[in-house]
Amino acid sequence: MATYRIAVLPGDGIGQEVTPEAVRVLNVVGKGAGVGFEFEEALVGGAALDATGVPLAPGALELCRASHAILFGAVGGPTWDDVPHEKRPERGLLALRKELDLYANLRPAKCFSMLVDASPLKRSVVEGTDLMVIRELTGGLYFGEPRGVERFADGGARAVNTMAYTSREIERIARTGFEVARKRRKRLASVDKANVLVVSQLWREVVTRVGKDYPDVTLEHVLVDNCAMALVHKPTQFDTIVTENTFGDILSDEAAILAGSMGMLPSASLGGAVGLYEPVHGTAPDIAGKGIANPIAAILSAAMLLRYALGLEKDAERVERAVLRVLEEGHRTADIAHVGTKTVGTREMADLIVRALEAQY
Ligand code: IPM
Ligand code: MG
Repeated sequence: MATYRIAVLPGDGIGQEVTPEAVRVLNVVGKGAGVGFEFEEALVGGAALDATGVPLAPGALELCRASHAILFGAVGGPTWDDVPHEKRPERGLLALRKELDLYANLRPAKCFSMLVDASPLKRSVVEGTDLMVIRELTGGLYFGEPRGVERFADGGARAVNTMAYTSREIERIARTGFEVARKRRKRLASVDKANVLVVSQLWREVVTRVGKDYPDVTLEHVLVDNCAMALVHKPTQFDTIVTENTFGDILSDEAAILAGSMGMLPSASLGGAVGLYEPVHGTAPDIAGKGIANPIAAILSAAMLLRYALGLEKDAERVERAVLRVLEEGHRTADIAHVGTKTVGTREMADLIVRALEAQY
């Protein structure tokens, strides 16, 4: 029997509530598909900071490196707002991305037909939305040098972040973009700010060059401000989007609203030897600890793990079908609830999905 080691890093806030539900779903898959899972937990984020003094617990990176995949929750929260920059909970996640070379972040945003009314946007806008945002994850403003704050004697200050990309970094994420688009509807929108930023001019130049290797994929260049507007105006015009780190961070949150709620969006961070799978949503401090968070993003992230890390495509589809089934039956967590649906908590939603999944083996 194949046995897979999964590093589990729930992190903070609702990350601690939704991650165990994704683990439960993987255990059902394990039983049904006859594969073994060994889960090992490590602390990250504020939880790691409180317990160990650093935002990525000692040994956590090594555990991730020695695993087949990483199941991640979320990090951060108001408790740690005042800690020094290099100790912020988010640094734990950023360190993992950088150290593991997870440069390609896949964030699918699909508007399921039964959730059309869960989106605050009009049905005529969101219906049929099915896009994949590919976000570059280890470059740009997040990691560029120089960065820092200079304090002046007169009380003033100057802070710097650098948006930098090498052609090599652009080329590899562009290839991911074209490869993914090729398996979808063969349309790639490369998003940049080439009318202002030299980084974006290089981005556009390299993406165009790489595009020559993919004549079957239609490439268009879209300015980021225009893309932000088009996403809430006519999202169905997009199939696959590829963009740099910060633009991708912002646009993928926007895309979440097309899917009904942040609580629906999974993600996969790929590139290095071990991939990291995490819901796009954050720690949601306002609802943490109440047992009402939507576990679907975490569960769909587990489905991505099955697909991309373990090649268990059929089982990934089973998990996705189980989620759809439960939604079709009218069950909703509070974030996607609307008139005429039954509202359930985190555990109950996961119970329903587990049952729908078990029924498929
Ligand atoms: C995300 C998050 C992270 C990011 C934070 C938690 C560091 O917003 O994954 O989108 O900015 O990348
Ligand atoms: Mg974000």
